[in-house]
Amino acid sequence: MYSSKRNMESNTTEVSVHSGMLKEVLEGLGKTQKTLPSKFFYDKRGSELFEQICELDEYYPTRTELSIMKNNIGDIAGQLGSGIQLIELGSGSSLKTRLLLDHLPNLHSYVPVDISNDFLSSAAEQLQSEYPNLEINPVSADYTKPFDLPDTNEGIRRIVYYPGSTIGNFTKDEAGDFIALISELIGKNGGLLIGFDLIKDRETLIAAYDDEKGITAQFNKNILTRINRELDANFNPDAFDHKAIFNEEKSRIEMHLVSQKDQTVYMMGSKITIAEGETIHTENSHKYSPESFREITQPHFRTEKTWTDENELFAVQFLTKKHSVLKD
Ligand SMILES: C[S@@+](CC[C@H](N)C(=O)[O-])C[C@H]1O[C@@H](n2cnc3c(N)ncnc32)[C@H](O)[C@@H]1O
Repeated sequence: MYSSKRNMESNTTEVSVHSGMLKEVLEGLGKTQKTLPSKFFYDKRGSELFEQICELDEYYPTRTELSIMKNNIGDIAGQLGSGIQLIELGSGSSLKTRLLLDHLPNLHSYVPVDISNDFLSSAAEQLQSEYPNLEINPVSADYTKPFDLPDTNEGIRRIVYYPGSTIGNFTKDEAGDFIALISELIGKNGGLLIGFDLIKDRETLIAAYDDEKGITAQFNKNILTRINRELDANFNPDAFDHKAIFNEEKSRIEMHLVSQKDQTVYMMGSKITIAEGETIHTENSHKYSPESFREITQPHFRTEKTWTDENELFAVQFLTKKHSVLKD
């Protein structure tokens, strides 16, 4: 199902993430409600800006998820068990992973998977210097497309770690499909440790995606700078405003870029017209209750345990693969 190529020099398995970028970008910008896939935020600069977002007072998810992990690490590590292959989807700087690495006995290997190739390579290099005895096999890939995992011996249990409420970037239908894909990836006895963001008051949500220092605005506009560089386009990022709204019906934060004026943009022979006030929808971040999250996981997984913080802002959950659709 998955294909990839191994780069022996950098020890990173690479899958071309650029092929198809132009097609996906033009497809999104051709819609009535213009969209851009949020995965294209993450070039090196985008990943660095995301790291800055994680430090912001307003951005509660990172520190809350980290505190849940810290407060329950013994229990979490016990659920995951020993001798596993730990596969992290959207690993970024592997910040929360260090806690797991410190507490998982006899880890078989760690496989960080990320679309942000350069950032992944330096994060993996840094991690290897901190954990010299750990086998680290980074995979540079768009995980929504087919990719290979490094081989393991039969019998090594695969656990996917998917923190950061990155699952929230998918619509509910897409999230259900992606959960099905994870269940395929981990094989018979695998598990899933996942972080998801809980529904909360609108004010807290909006502030987290529209901070006072304007870092999230820079992050949002960086997608245009990246498209200019990689797809030979001529967007003027300063001619757009960053906007975050809470879509209550869909239980999600949406990030948009609002055009300040009528404008025309050219990209590799294509012409895109954007009217004043028109928006490009760049990101969704869906918020769940434990019940609504169970709706997307239960066809494939059994919920073993859920941990949350005292204010119930965020949840971390461990799930194991169902062997029978009738059992939960
Ligand atoms: C919200 S950040 C979370 C980072 C980190 N896991 C955390 O919890 O702080 C999303 C991460 O997923 C990566 N990512 C987003 N879409 C991806 C895709 N389609 N394939 C692979 N990586 C992706 C980004 O590069 C980024 O590192």
